[in-house]
Amino acid sequence: MKTNVAIIGAGPAGLLLGHLLRAEGIDCVVVERQSPAYVLSRIRAGVLESVTTGLMQRLGLDARMRAEGMVEDGFNLADDDRMIRIDIKALTGEHVTVYGQTELTRDLMDAAPDRGLQIVYAASDVALHDVESDRPWVSYVADGQTHRIDADFIAGCDGFHGASRKAIGEDPAHRFERVYPFGWLGILADVPPCHPELIYANGPRGFALASMRSPTRSRYYIQVPQEARIEDWSEDRLWDELALRFDPISERGVVRGPALEMSIAPLRSFVFEKMRRGRLFLAGDAAHIVPPTGAKGLNLAASDVAYLAEALIAWFGKGEEAPLAGYEARALARIWKAERFSWYLTKLMHRFPEDGAFEHRMQRAEIDYVATSRAMQTAIAENYVGLPL
Ligand code: APR
Ligand code: PHB
Repeated sequence: MKTNVAIIGAGPAGLLLGHLLRAEGIDCVVVERQSPAYVLSRIRAGVLESVTTGLMQRLGLDARMRAEGMVEDGFNLADDDRMIRIDIKALTGEHVTVYGQTELTRDLMDAAPDRGLQIVYAASDVALHDVESDRPWVSYVADGQTHRIDADFIAGCDGFHGASRKAIGEDPAHRFERVYPFGWLGILADVPPCHPELIYANGPRGFALASMRSPTRSRYYIQVPQEARIEDWSEDRLWDELALRFDPISERGVVRGPALEMSIAPLRSFVFEKMRRGRLFLAGDAAHIVPPTGAKGLNLAASDVAYLAEALIAWFGKGEEAPLAGYEARALARIWKAERFSWYLTKLMHRFPEDGAFEHRMQRAEIDYVATSRAMQTAIAENYVGLPL
């Protein structure tokens, strides 16, 4: 098979890139290791920046997002004794859209056939070849047969555990990482949210987040020790913890219900600074991971993809090399700012096991400064809604 761009990975990054290229008449094939059901089963956050909603609108794939998504003009930071509303609309003129990133992935998947975006699922042994030549190619096994895709470019959108970053070469000099000493225990349930907007809380029992998917579906998280096991957490125990955190500060109080999903996720900050090798380019989690505090993961993948699509379109349309040459530096400039904000909000809103009374006072002083400074709230708001492309 021959194509213009072979995309590895059918997560949000790969699918967004595929649709953006197809919209410009550029041929591409997406090769995905898992099944569609598996891709849709991945746990994802629920906040979209305007960068992301803008791409969906540009593709004409935003109908369901506009119908079902919830526009939020603010969010809340709470500590031991107060809750501060960050009025992102008044401070930045922007809002965020609460819409399950899984639903966005579904919208992209469902539109693929009509848009001529070919996706090969259940492809195993995916390997990248001759990435430094002008004829790179991808091999994979499907239905017991080995297949080859010859391409002009390969886009590595295969996430943190994919094959593409390895094909770049895992030079430690390009790797920057921090693993946090705790995880997030999350629950999804068909119960009304406790508050009309998100609440990030740092209380005596640690971090907790009250989020939502719709007016009838809630998403909550609490900080748990790194070694916590899901079998140690009954739904009742988790609902008790959430009620302790949010009943005193939320409009409605926590409404309980059976879990649709309950799991523990680790937290890490990670950047791999080499996002190009010859005709191979990385985008999304293949190149970076953020802790979910601030929901930057998918939104950062969207900005990588916006830059990479623009550069590939310039190459295929006008033979321009410069945008591709500038992709890595342009993407990293935005990646590092989002990494900084996610790290900042994680440090501010979590109880670190190694911290003592002094560090807790520093957190309280910072939150007190946020409560009393429009400048500080503006800085937080403009990072939360997403910095401009
Ligand atoms: N070959 C083919 N596909 C692969 C391979 C491989 N060797 N390895 C991984 N994949 C697939 C995975 O199965 C997955 O579907 O690549 C896809 C990568 O998708 P994500 O992990 O969702 O990463 P990305 O598309 O960059 O999404 C970025 O979206 O919802 C957020 O939190 C999520 O931060 C993440 C963000
Ligand atoms: C979610 O709704 O899953 C969510 C929202 C905000 C975050 C992380 C997760 O920062």
